Amino acid sequence: MEQLDWSSLGFGYHKTDYNVRCYYRDGKWGELEVSSEETITMHMGATCLHYGQEAFEGLKAFKGKDGKVRIFRIDENAKRMIRSAEGVVMQPVPQKLFEEACIKAVKLNERFIPPYESGASLYIRPLLLGLGAQVGVKPAPEYLFIVFVTPVGPYFKEGFKPTPMAIMRGYDRAAPLGTGTIKVGGNYAAGMIPTVLAHDKGYSACLFLDAKEKKYIDECGPANFFGIKNNTYITPESTSILPSITNKSLMQLAKDMGMNVERRHVPESELAEFEEAGACGTAAVISPILRIDDLDENKTYQISKDGKPGKRCEELYNRLRAIQYGDVEDPYGWVTIVE
Ligand code: PLP
Ligand code: COI
Repeated sequence: MEQLDWSSLGFGYHKTDYNVRCYYRDGKWGELEVSSEETITMHMGATCLHYGQEAFEGLKAFKGKDGKVRIFRIDENAKRMIRSAEGVVMQPVPQKLFEEACIKAVKLNERFIPPYESGASLYIRPLLLGLGAQVGVKPAPEYLFIVFVTPVGPYFKEGFKPTPMAIMRGYDRAAPLGTGTIKVGGNYAAGMIPTVLAHDKGYSACLFLDAKEKKYIDECGPANFFGIKNNTYITPESTSILPSITNKSLMQLAKDMGMNVERRHVPESELAEFEEAGACGTAAVISPILRIDDLDENKTYQISKDGKPGKRCEELYNRLRAIQYGDVEDPYGWVTIVE
């Protein structure tokens, strides 16, 4: 295989050897199939193509110093994909099948798992698609569940360096009672224009406000938001954001560090008070925020005063990574060792 430069990997697709597939037909899930094809064949009337009947997940496998491979919180991703499927009336993938497929995809592509020293990881992308010829708006008769993997480095090119974000009030990612809490493609389609605009203007992401009042912080394009002040980790409560598994983990780690944790509405005006802030997610890990510009109101919230990650962000990041790579004991049973 072409030698990959593990430590300079960005967040992109890299071909691996195999992916794993499973079809739901005639009212039941079939056997897991192993494929070396990168393409899929489907009817042009498939509901995933027309009506967005699709959901995906993102999780990671890490190679430890001890050579063991650990997958982080696979059960949480399995459960979220069940909720996502139900949210757009698709056949959910049973948790056991989800976990089995992810583990199989990781094992089959063992040679693509970046070495410990590189700081990179293997991104696992489960995908559920509605299949079958349908023209009316109704659920698909058949489903395809695929898991592929790809080795990745940092999502934001800065890695663990503070990065600027933009608020653009002319765009909403998800409606208050819409699909924002599940991981379906339509949410990312809705966020595509502001994401591209933000990149064009030199920001790493768009920070969305709540769609109804345009008053509270929702989340960043591909990650949840948190702010830190007065020894308190504060993260938005909202009916239109994805419940991030990384954020859930950081709330626990913040408590372990002796911090208070608050999940509540976070008004935009509070940005001026945060000592530190960050975006968190599987792909983003923790991306400390440098500053946030509200482009429509001409306001700037300078979060990092010296351009460096804050102490608490750094400690959260180190604690999370130590569990993921197996450098420390896993007190909460978050990792699954791939045997
Ligand atoms: N919010 C959105 C919109 C995302 O796409 C993601 C990525 O999965 C997250 C938050 C972070 O979630 P998690 O930590 O479970 O990866
Ligand atoms: C993730 O963090 O796993 C994501 O899905 C984010 C993104 C690439 C959409």
